[in-house]
Amino acid sequence: MTTSSPPAAARVRARVERFHEARVAGEWGGRELFFGRSPEAGDVLVNSNDYLALAGDDRVAKSIADSLADGLGTLASGVYVHGDHPQLVLERDLAAHMHAPAGVLCQSGWDANLGLLQAISDAHTPVYVDQIAHMSLAAGARLAGAPLHVFRHNDLGHLRSRTDRHGPGVIAVDALYSTNGSHCPLREMCDLAEETGCVLVVDESHSLGTTGPLGAGMVVELGLAHRVHFRIASLSKAFAGRAGFVTATDPAFVPYFRLESFPAVFSSALPAHDVAGLSATLEAVRADEWRRDRLHQVSEWVRDEVAALGFDLEGSVSQIVALQTGTEWATIEVRELLEEHGVFGAVFAPPATPRDRALVRLSLHAGLGDDDVDRIIAACESVRDRWR
Ligand SMILES: Cc1ncc(COP(=O)(O)O)c(C=O)c1O
Repeated sequence: MTTSSPPAAARVRARVERFHEARVAGEWGGRELFFGRSPEAGDVLVNSNDYLALAGDDRVAKSIADSLADGLGTLASGVYVHGDHPQLVLERDLAAHMHAPAGVLCQSGWDANLGLLQAISDAHTPVYVDQIAHMSLAAGARLAGAPLHVFRHNDLGHLRSRTDRHGPGVIAVDALYSTNGSHCPLREMCDLAEETGCVLVVDESHSLGTTGPLGAGMVVELGLAHRVHFRIASLSKAFAGRAGFVTATDPAFVPYFRLESFPAVFSSALPAHDVAGLSATLEAVRADEWRRDRLHQVSEWVRDEVAALGFDLEGSVSQIVALQTGTEWATIEVRELLEEHGVFGAVFAPPATPRDRALVRLSLHAGLGDDDVDRIIAACESVRDRWR
């Protein structure tokens, strides 16, 4: 250590100042990147991951309210959950829904991925992650001290060259990618994992509830449930709650995970009302086929029209339609143009995207009416005509 190094607190202060000066005042020109005016009644909100429009659903709200009236339940780590605890019932139901032998609830999708990768990789187990897979997967590998190898998005040749070089490990992909709405080629990914002796982890956060029979997800839709070692999902998307879920092909994995996964053992489990709400949501997800039908209908409609306007949708085949805006300055312009038309998308910017690859994501949902879709398309047309 040199005596001339500034104290750590000064270095932290300098980082915060750099953020405000270079980024907020500089790149953003003092404007807000992520939000402008507040939405008003009649505006079209496509900035949430509530793809099935289940947030606030009466059945879910009643279940949560009834549970709250009974108290909060035990507030402690999930290692203490046993017997006929409602969490265990929900875990069994969710696993059955996803055609998996077993599964375990986590406090969030982040904790599910972080805890899973930390619990299944180590210094001798390389982790191969798609370039645009969710950050929590790489974070879990880093927490485990595992060698991390990033492969080009959906590029099986590149992945194969990495596994040939570094050996069997964990391959981690998203079934449906959150920044551009593209799918992973899951069948080919299963083949590659089997040929190379790798464990395959598939993040179904954006496909659970929205794809597959009764919303069981893309892995089930493709008949691959027995070939994917672990699936994870954030339950803050189509399930409109606050939790994560990990499936396992071996039931013995669950007690191991509860104790060995750091977020599971060192952080409190879900409160009882979250479990109650998610149980009701699972029933609604399975029962309301019309929500999936409407979601797919509006998604195809918007994709077709927005692509016809000349936007490059980067292979989106889903409810995620991203307008690639590039710099943060341009992203603010586009967000404001959309807001002028009463359309509210979600800004994605570094660290969620590479530098100068920011975007405005339109997250379509089952609650959109035909008029809403017309407004989204008109707003995109205006962006095309007035931006650049
Ligand atoms: C693909 C993917 N995985 C995991 C997560 C994390 O989920 P959660 O918000 O429940 O922590 C997200 C959410 O941003 C996601 O998009």
